[in-house]
Amino acid sequence: MPHSTYSRQWPDGFIWGSATAAAQIEGAGHEGGKEDSVWDHFARIPGAIAKGENLEQAVDHYHRMPEDVRLMKELGLDSYRFSTSWARVRPGDRAANPEGLDFYSRLVDELLEAGILPWLTLYHWDLPQALEEKGGWANRDTAYRFVEYANDVYDVLGDRVQHWTTFNEPFCSSLLGYGSGVHAPGRQEPRAAIAAVHHQHLAHGLAVNALRERGAQNLGITLNLSNSIPRDPADPVDLDAARRFDSLQNRIFLDPILLGSYPQDTLVDLAPFGLPELILPGDLEVISAPLEFLGVNHYHDDLISGHADHEGGDGHSGGAERVAASPWIGSEDIAFPSRGLPRTAMDWEVNPDGLRKLLVRLGEEYPGLPPLYITENGAAYDDTVEPDGSVQDTERTGFILDHIAAVGEALDQGADVRGYFVWSLLDNFEWSWGYGKRFGIVRVDYGTFERTVKASGHAYARLIAAAKQHARALPGSRSA
Ligand code: FCB
Repeated sequence: MPHSTYSRQWPDGFIWGSATAAAQIEGAGHEGGKEDSVWDHFARIPGAIAKGENLEQAVDHYHRMPEDVRLMKELGLDSYRFSTSWARVRPGDRAANPEGLDFYSRLVDELLEAGILPWLTLYHWDLPQALEEKGGWANRDTAYRFVEYANDVYDVLGDRVQHWTTFNEPFCSSLLGYGSGVHAPGRQEPRAAIAAVHHQHLAHGLAVNALRERGAQNLGITLNLSNSIPRDPADPVDLDAARRFDSLQNRIFLDPILLGSYPQDTLVDLAPFGLPELILPGDLEVISAPLEFLGVNHYHDDLISGHADHEGGDGHSGGAERVAASPWIGSEDIAFPSRGLPRTAMDWEVNPDGLRKLLVRLGEEYPGLPPLYITENGAAYDDTVEPDGSVQDTERTGFILDHIAAVGEALDQGADVRGYFVWSLLDNFEWSWGYGKRFGIVRVDYGTFERTVKASGHAYARLIAAAKQHARALPGSRSA
């Protein structure tokens, strides 16, 4: 039975893409002038990454980039979302590295040649280790260093790249990196984690203004957002836990960036961790600089309880042996009871309707919300290779098609969604879980680096082709 999503009419110009991140795929960890990022350094800490794996070779994209772009073309992607590595562009954060910039320049040329729109993210978690040694994101100065890096990238690619994303999922690189310690740099310092949140916001706003001045016209940020559903809406303890989860997962990011203010309850909850004093006069104006789009990453939503005795994976605990602290600063009692839904290999619950709900809610709660793009959605499963070499990843195919269907329903309910990027193009380095969790629609053989399109990749390609077919059939359509 063909999935109903294949026959749907998508808005004219809807973008179909796939996403990756520099640290997860490039490899060439110390080639072409690149020096340590916080992730290279973190990977050397015993127990930090599952099986002691590292990013040195990753999936060798640095050397196989033209082949990977050919794959994207075969799949029929409209756009490719990738990130640039700060530690490659400005090794040690000293000065621009022409060889590092040249790699991205060649990538952009290959993409344009293949008719694929480059969708660039400046920060997908790989701070130069040299800056971490000066305090990292807990140091306000890092925000100003980020602008220099952003300008260096723009000066080389700004003539060809139109879509600029400042940060990917600041939640992870602040609260997980400096709070729970499950992500690099692995610090477990609540005050530093809150400082990292504010300084990344500032870096975002400063970079938006700087790139705008240089001529950029399509600027945005990508946030990982989740629904916060109280286990028992009649229980004040669960309700308050859900409020606090929503504050730390969603509103501490959305409100300053879109509305120019931190939520009042967040300011009160985080006063013991120094949030109010971090905000200097003028910061919020910079942070709320207007944007052309908001990227939404979504994998699962969360049932929340304030009764810490409720068991349940929260998907944030990491894959390695290091014991993680809670990323829920000041709200360590937050618990994630199971709803008995199917789960992916990450132990994340599968609930496509959560994506619909989230997209509709954003439009309702944030007046003036810029257009939305789903910049990541996908699933890890324990794939097996058939004797004929194929990968029949039926669960991943179902996950992707069901979530795309949920995006369609959100559109019907008024959400302004303009594109969808599946995570991920390739199997890759899944942070502290190492290479054990495969998210790709293309399999990578970690011995030979050979790429094989999985059944989910073929299904996605068919969906893109069908969407284009329907668009062509529409009278007066731009893509006709
Ligand atoms: C997101 C990250 C991405 C990848 C997916 C599975 O949080 O942005 O790099 O790890 O999760």
